[in-house]
Amino acid sequence: MNTLDWIAATFGPVMLTLPWTWPIFETLHFFGLCMLLGGIIVIDLRLLGFNKVIPTVASHDILPVVYAGLIVNTVTGIGFFVGDPHRYFINIAFQIKMLLYVIAGLNALWYQYKLSPRIDALPDGATLPSEARIAGAMSLGLWFGVLILGRLIPYLGTG
Ligand code: HEM
Repeated sequence: MNTLDWIAATFGPVMLTLPWTWPIFETLHFFGLCMLLGGIIVIDLRLLGFNKVIPTVASHDILPVVYAGLIVNTVTGIGFFVGDPHRYFINIAFQIKMLLYVIAGLNALWYQYKLSPRIDALPDGATLPSEARIAGAMSLGLWFGVLILGRLIPYLGTG
């Protein structure tokens, strides 16, 4: 029995025994992406210079909603994976999605621990460091990439 067989045998029944588990996970996966993408659109567009009426520091108040969405999608995403690991593990859209998810996560950590403290220390209306614009643009591109590839999973590779 290889690792994927073990995952399917051990955790698969959690996702497949009750008929409503998968549809509920799909619905939660959409709630999670709305919370995640909805929040980062406001934060990242501010970093790119839009909505200057909103102080950058104030846009950070949305971060708990973004992180809650990230947790919901990570848990429900793992649920999908353990429910049918053989199908998703070899799916090219899933593989690229996971790569973008990791890079987007590292970008978020960089922003949270390296850039955000510097931005919080700036006086109101001050010009943001160029790295902030880079982090904002990468975040938008990477998370929308995760979304698009999530949607393409049924259409690419193993379907
Ligand atoms: C955190 C950001 C994430 C976003 C924005 C996201 C977005 C999406 C979207 C839009 C879909 C298509 C849903 C559909 O129409 O059926 C999807 C499906 C999927 N996602 Fe995610 N996802 C995220 C995280 C994850 C993670 C972390 C995993 C795995 C560990 C994952 C695994 C999957 C799988 C396996 C599917 C296909 C489900 C199916 O076959 O219907 N996702 N995702």
